[in-house]
Amino acid sequence: MGSSEMCLRLVLVQLVLSMVANAALTTTQLAQLPKPDCIRKCGELESIPYPFGTEADCYLNEDFFINCSNTDNPPMPFLRKSIIRVTNITMDGRLQVQSYVSRDCYDENGKNTNNTPSLNMSQSTISDTQNKFTVIGCGSYGYIQGEIGEKYYSVGCGSSCVRLEDVTNGSCSGFGCCQIDIPRGLKGIAVQASSLDRHKKVLHFNPCSYAFVIEGSRFNFSSSNLSATITKTVPTAVDWAITGHGKCEEARNNQSYACKENSNCYEPSDHSAGGYLCKCKDGYQGNPYISNDCRGKENLQASRDLRLPTLIQEPQVRAFLRYERALYGLVAEVSRALIAMEKVSSTGQKSREDDSSAKTSESPVRNKPQSLGRSEA
Ligand SMILES: *[C@@H]1O[C@H](CO)[C@@H](O)[C@H](O)[C@H]1NC(C)=O
Ligand SMILES: *[C@@H]1O[C@H](CO)[C@@H](O)[C@H](O)[C@H]1NC(C)=O
Ligand SMILES: *[C@@H]1O[C@H](CO)[C@@H](O)[C@H](O)[C@H]1NC(C)=O
Ligand SMILES: *[C@@H]1O[C@H](CO)[C@@H](O)[C@H](O)[C@H]1NC(C)=O
Ligand SMILES: *[C@@H]1O[C@H](CO)[C@@H](O)[C@H](O)[C@H]1NC(C)=O
Ligand SMILES: *[C@@H]1O[C@H](CO)[C@@H](O)[C@H](O)[C@H]1NC(C)=O
Ligand SMILES: *[C@@H]1O[C@H](CO)[C@@H](O)[C@H](O)[C@H]1NC(C)=O
Repeated sequence: MGSSEMCLRLVLVQLVLSMVANAALTTTQLAQLPKPDCIRKCGELESIPYPFGTEADCYLNEDFFINCSNTDNPPMPFLRKSIIRVTNITMDGRLQVQSYVSRDCYDENGKNTNNTPSLNMSQSTISDTQNKFTVIGCGSYGYIQGEIGEKYYSVGCGSSCVRLEDVTNGSCSGFGCCQIDIPRGLKGIAVQASSLDRHKKVLHFNPCSYAFVIEGSRFNFSSSNLSATITKTVPTAVDWAITGHGKCEEARNNQSYACKENSNCYEPSDHSAGGYLCKCKDGYQGNPYISNDCRGKENLQASRDLRLPTLIQEPQVRAFLRYERALYGLVAEVSRALIAMEKVSSTGQKSREDDSSAKTSESPVRNKPQSLGRSEA
């Protein structure tokens, strides 16, 4: 009895030691990505959550680099090395970017100005579920072209109207405005607006045709869109994911697996970027891509309380909190292990006692061998 308890103690000490070693390792890894004092805001983009970031050691890899250009005032957040402006980043795998509107405009002399803008995302995909290709104008048509894998893709729609009264506010069904879905998997597109009759008969209220890919929920057609100048850019939804190491099942075994403690891997079906995303387990909150950042309610409250001292500089506080979190995890692990050990040893003793009293027991239930795992079930 005494010697087996000793054994238990020894095992426990070894366990704690190895856990301390693991924690030390985790803490040094934590110090790497992202570093604790990253700037998470750029101009009007209020939140740049990891895996995205604007500085070295603040983003997961080049796919998630946001170029915060300080030569503009206010600073402008551009996606990677492009001139695509980012206006929103959400943790459910969406970016909102600004894409250019194609226009084909005429003046009284029939003189024409037009453009054919393109939007090229190398590592992300233009969302097929959130966007609509839209054309506006009277006697107008537009088309969108791009490539899906190796396949060339091109489709378009047209809209007509003779008078402003022909169009219905809020409806893009062919009078003054048409809309079509776009296919899944487009990474690069070019859009072009064209006019059938140089707007000759409608010039007084509609001198231009327009074509663009817009986040569907952001567009509500109005007759004023025919006469007033359409904005230069429109919001377009882009899907992002952690790519390059397959989907969840494959990625899970990879060293670069991005989902950290207390988070799950998932592959949303309305999402076309491939790869995978991470989210905190039910009941946990935080950033699933950062070590030990998904926390349950109690720990969340604890860390809020810790945030109170204001004299220490923020980066130090954040570094401290990270370390604190790792410690929390360690303490939780150790106490769980202790409890488990205690259960094992007490259940063991109990069943032995039961055995010795079994002969005198009347109840067949008490004679049943006790399963060690039962209390956990
Ligand atoms: C960031 O954007 C600015 C402005 O477009 C550009 O001059 C600069 O080279 C970009 N930086 C990187 C690292 O791409
Ligand atoms: C970003 O998108 C989310 C989800 O659609 C929305 O709740 C949030 O208000 C948006 N933020 C900005 C600055 O537009
Ligand atoms: C962007 O993609 C479109 C469609 O695939 C292509 O026509 C265009 O040349 C690309 N533009 C650039 C700058 O790569
Ligand atoms: C669209 O705009 C009209 C007014 O032009 C408004 O009555 C309608 O509620 C709007 N619809 C949506 C979905 O915002
Ligand atoms: C449609 O909305 C515009 C303003 O966006 C308004 O001037 C016009 O009167 C509306 N048309 C109808 C038919 O309600
Ligand atoms: C269309 O018209 C409405 C109402 O005037 C306006 O709020 C909206 O910005 C216009 N859309 C675009 C893409 O310019
Ligand atoms: C991790 O992913 C990379 C790229 O897909 C691959 O080359 C590597 O073999 C993977 N490692 C493991 C352990 O699966």
